[in-house]
Amino acid sequence: MSDMHVFAVGPLRAAMRLVVAGFGSAREEIDAVVDNLVEANLTGHDSHGIGMLPRYAASYLEGGLKPNTHVRVVHDAGAVLRLDGDTGFGQVIGHEAMALGIERAKRLGTCVVALGHSHHLGRIGAWAEQAAAAGLVSLHFVNVVSRPIVAPFGGARAGFGTNPFTAGVPLPGRPPFILDFATSRIAQGKTRVAYNKGELVPEGCLIDDRGRPTREPRFSVVPPTGAILTFGEHKGYGLAALCELLGGALAAGLVGHREDGTRMRVWNGMLSVLLDPAALGNVPRFEAEAGAFVESLLGAPAREGFERVLVAGDPERAMRAERTARGVPVDATTWQQILDAAKSLGVDPRGVHAAAAG
Ligand SMILES: NC(=O)c1ccc[n+]([C@@H]2O[C@H](COP(=O)([O-])OP(=O)(O)OC[C@H]3O[C@@H](n4cnc5c(N)ncnc54)[C@H](O)[C@@H]3O)[C@@H](O)[C@H]2O)c1
Repeated sequence: MSDMHVFAVGPLRAAMRLVVAGFGSAREEIDAVVDNLVEANLTGHDSHGIGMLPRYAASYLEGGLKPNTHVRVVHDAGAVLRLDGDTGFGQVIGHEAMALGIERAKRLGTCVVALGHSHHLGRIGAWAEQAAAAGLVSLHFVNVVSRPIVAPFGGARAGFGTNPFTAGVPLPGRPPFILDFATSRIAQGKTRVAYNKGELVPEGCLIDDRGRPTREPRFSVVPPTGAILTFGEHKGYGLAALCELLGGALAAGLVGHREDGTRMRVWNGMLSVLLDPAALGNVPRFEAEAGAFVESLLGAPAREGFERVLVAGDPERAMRAERTARGVPVDATTWQQILDAAKSLGVDPRGVHAAAAG
C-alpha cells in the first residue's frame, strides 16, 4: 500500500493549472480541463480525475491529443447533429457538443448529438449534469478507442473498451438522477488506481492473459494483459456492445481495434439523445410521478448490510461535499506520475508540488 497525500481543493486546482498550462492550452481550456478532472476526484471517481494527466501528456507528446481545438459541426440536420472533436481535449469538446445539443433541444424539443474523435471525455456524468442543469433528460452511449480491455461475454480475450452508459433525468425540487457507469465490472482507471496502491481488485472482475479469473490489477495495466469482464453477465455485455455500435460505429464512424493498443491516445465516440420534457406537453404529471417515485425509493426500508436506499447521483454528491470539506486524497504513485508528466511537458514538478501543498 503506497502513502496518500491529501490536498485541499483550491491548492490542488492551482497545481493542476500549472500542469495543464504545459500543454500550451488557452486559459479557458486550462480551467475546463482542471475543473472537470478535479470534479471527478471530488465525486469519488479518482479513475477519471487528475490521475489521467500522465496519459494525456503521453498522448499529446505522440500527437494523439491536440490542445486548443474546438468542436466542429460536420453535418447539421436540425434536431440531429454530427460533430467532430478533431482529437481536442474531451473536457472542452464534450462541453461544447452538449451546449450545441442543449440549444437545439430547447428549441426543437429534442436533439441527437453524434460526436466522433474527441480525446477522452472523462466522467460522462458531467455531460448528463450539464443537460440536466438545462432541464433536459439525456442518454449517452460511449465507446473508447484505445487498447481493447474488456472481454465479450464468454470470451477469453479483450474485444472493446469500458464503454460507459450514462443517463440524466432532472427531478422537481431535488438534484437530478445521474446514472453513470462503465459497462465493465470496474472502470479500467480503477484497476490502475488499485495497481498504483498495491491493492487487489474484487473477485469476478478480471481474467488473466490466459483467460483465467484473477484479482491482480496488473492484468489490465501492464503486459501481458488479460481483460476486465462486463457487468451483469450477458446483459451488461449487450449494453457494452450497444455503446460500441451507437457511440462508436454510428456516432464516430470508428470502433476500437486491437492495433490501438500501441498508442497512448484515448479517444471517445458518443451518441447523446437530449429531450426536453416540456416537448411532451405533460410536465406536471411527469414531475409529480417522478418526484413521488424517487421519494418512495428513498423511503424504502434498508435491508441487512445497507445503511439506506440511495438514488443514482446521490453517492457522488455526498462524496463531493465530504472531499470539498476534507480534501482530495491522491496516492503517492499517482502523484509521482503527475509530477513526472509535468516534467515531460516542461513544467517544474517542484512548483506543482509546492502549489498543491498550499
Ligand atoms: N470516458 C471514458 O472513456 C470512460 C470509460 C469508462 C468509464 N468512464 C467513467 O468512469 C466513471 C466511473 O464509472 P464506474 O463504472 O466505476 O462507476 P460506479 O460503479 O461507481 O457507478 C456509478 C453509478 O452508480 C450510482 N451508484 C453508486 N452507488 C449507488 C447506490 N448505492 N445506490 C444507487 N446508485 C448508486 C452512482 O450514482 C453512479 O450513477 C463514470 O463517471 C464513467 O462515465 C469514462
